[in-house]
Amino acid sequence: MDGESYLIESGEPIMQFEYQNPTRLVFGAGSLPRLGEMAGQYGKRALLVTGGGSVKRIGTFDRALKSLKDAGISVFECEGVEPNPRISSVKRGAAIARANECDLVVALGGGSTMDAAKVIAAAVLYDGDPWDMIFHGQAAPHIPTQALPMIAVPTLAATGSEMNCSAVISNEETKEKSFVSANCLYPKVALLDPELTVSVPKDQTAYGVCDLMTHITESYFNGVGDTPIQDRFAEGVILTAMEYGPKAIANGNDLNARAQIQWAATVALNGWINSGSGGAGYPVHMIEHTVSAYHDITHGAGLAIINPAWMRFAAQINPSKFVQFAERIFGFSANSPDDIECALAGIDRFESFLKSIGCPTHLSEMGIDAQLIETYAKETLRIIHDENGRLPALPPMTEADIVSVLRAAA
Ligand SMILES: [Fe+2]
Repeated sequence: MDGESYLIESGEPIMQFEYQNPTRLVFGAGSLPRLGEMAGQYGKRALLVTGGGSVKRIGTFDRALKSLKDAGISVFECEGVEPNPRISSVKRGAAIARANECDLVVALGGGSTMDAAKVIAAAVLYDGDPWDMIFHGQAAPHIPTQALPMIAVPTLAATGSEMNCSAVISNEETKEKSFVSANCLYPKVALLDPELTVSVPKDQTAYGVCDLMTHITESYFNGVGDTPIQDRFAEGVILTAMEYGPKAIANGNDLNARAQIQWAATVALNGWINSGSGGAGYPVHMIEHTVSAYHDITHGAGLAIINPAWMRFAAQINPSKFVQFAERIFGFSANSPDDIECALAGIDRFESFLKSIGCPTHLSEMGIDAQLIETYAKETLRIIHDENGRLPALPPMTEADIVSVLRAAA
């Protein structure tokens, strides 16, 4: 078939895709003790990557360690990965893994720990500077093709990193925060035990809910036009997050609520929801990455600030998907498919939900003033831009567009 065969009558492209996700997903409360059994299938010398120490305070670390040791696995630790994981931590972890001849990497922590662990797993097998693997301004000098096997044990429902092939890393020297995506970075196993998330504080739980919802809205609002199945998947996960997120925040020990949002976070970014939607980009994430590169704020909080402002910008140009969102998520009735009042009312309700769970929705709430807004816009475009110098999105964003969104979010 030639290319025109893929166009429907209106000339719009229709979805076409290939989907593969090789990560084995093991889900369920009480599954942590199976870590050793999983890890033993891939190696005997594990680098155990952890974050700020909460896994030690609450005993998760000791339980993971016991499971690994009971399976005959030697464990070497890389602790202290930052909330916005730094390339220096990647280098440190790779050095520990090399020195101890590790043949396996285990991440025990949140998204930052998992992202760092992925890039460490690739950096161990790469002689150059690991920053070469991170996209910044142009295609990365070295897209990794091999990595040590990695097992992800998330302790926070948020990024979905446990079941995808991407990682986000910051460079503290250049104030850049960007990503790498490569097939070799898929975890071999994602071991999801919702019990590990019951001690996550209310604010971090809320930011995680915002992160997972933004992963969905980014593909929902930036995809090709006609993806009815993906739209229903997306709306189902959003409604689930809006139902169970507040329950998990109200009562951290509500294990069912914890389980539902953990599953929601995983499917939000494991490729299932955005297969075929051909997402034009992740503008909210790209702008947030720049802001948090400068201010080291929690990713999900930054998204809560930028996403509603971006939605109001995008809805003015492409209102129909926002109308669908308002109708299906919040039960509004539009006067027409392009009813901008209805679209904006839906966005207002979405923002109100974020506020209701404790998320900030303006930069000022994080102590960030408007002084550097032009810089954030320039830096975002320096990291990623299309052939016309715009931020890939629907619609593509000029520097002035990014500035206007950030001013609305100030
Ligand atoms: Fe995210």
